[in-house]
Amino acid sequence: MKHIGVLTSGGDSPGMNAAIRAVVRAAHHYGLQVSGIERGYQGLIHNHVRPMDRRSVSGIINLGGTILHTARCMEFLEPEGRARAAETLARHDIEGLVVIGGDGSYRGAMKLHEEHGIRCIGLPGTIDNDIGGTNFTIGYDTALNTAIEAIDRIRDTAASHDRIFLVEVMGRNSGYLAMMSAIAGGAEEVLVPETESSVEGLIERLRAGAAKGKTSHIVVIAEGEECGSATDVAEKLAQKSEFTDPKVTVIGHLQRGGSPTAFDRILASRFGVRAVEALRAGETGVMVGVRGNQMILSPLSDAWEQHTRFDPSFTELARILS
Ligand code: ADP
Ligand code: F6P
Repeated sequence: MKHIGVLTSGGDSPGMNAAIRAVVRAAHHYGLQVSGIERGYQGLIHNHVRPMDRRSVSGIINLGGTILHTARCMEFLEPEGRARAAETLARHDIEGLVVIGGDGSYRGAMKLHEEHGIRCIGLPGTIDNDIGGTNFTIGYDTALNTAIEAIDRIRDTAASHDRIFLVEVMGRNSGYLAMMSAIAGGAEEVLVPETESSVEGLIERLRAGAAKGKTSHIVVIAEGEECGSATDVAEKLAQKSEFTDPKVTVIGHLQRGGSPTAFDRILASRFGVRAVEALRAGETGVMVGVRGNQMILSPLSDAWEQHTRFDPSFTELARILS
């Protein structure tokens, strides 16, 4: 193998730049040519490919976002789109691809591998930390720290005004980020899709807290929670209880930006180098991951077939500490 490509796809996450840097520098270290593909699969279909030398990734390890840009690409869902993507790779003599993104991006990579024989390696980048095959994804740690900084600030004003705040945390269908934000932020309550929850139960627990002398409450709500969004829960609380004026904060895309933490930079650097080494060794259809501080490779399908979930003991931990 002489020439590899790298792209970022799906939702961006802090640390993606550190991963691109590691892929590019590792490729040059091993004497491989490397090209960056802009805007994920969209750039692959539309031939937005540029060579990357060692200097092209200088000064980016500390930057959030992705210098290659990212996209969600509907054309790639169709076989014709993937055929055009394969043509672009052939035109540039790119023999292997590192796909930095979440499980959706890996489904695409798997098809590119199966339908066109392109060697593909997945590198887990998402703030949701829900991908199987790895304990941690790049961006999760940074997003968690952003969320708890927000919760810490909210606590100041919540306590001063004796108020209830409902704080909505991202995670798509996963409550991992929300649960850890609640524990690290010392939230009184947490609603996540993994555990059964109702507004009635929340009201009971808020009342019990008030009876014990709590004058303010922070409730962390995962965005995929079945009770609805933080705004929905606020409306229900106001209708069904004496807690008539809950304040809502949606942290939203603030969680996706910012300079990556040291943890994410190191993880991204290790993933990037391991991904290039795996391509060189002839691997394909696999993703890099970390388990017990060891770099591992797993089938790409593990990403969506064995979603990472938080250990159920965290639910009890949050209850004990509230
Ligand atoms: P993430 O990688 O963060 O999970 P998405 O689920 O949005 O993000 O997927 C990113 C892109 O990967 C999609 O826009 C699409 O181009 C491609 N993709 C996702 N699922 C598939 C699929 N089943 N087949 C082919 N391509 C897919
Ligand atoms: O997968 C990362 C993520 O930030 C999810 O937590 C969230 O549900 C989604 O992406 C938001 O996507 P978009 O930026 O397209 O609104």
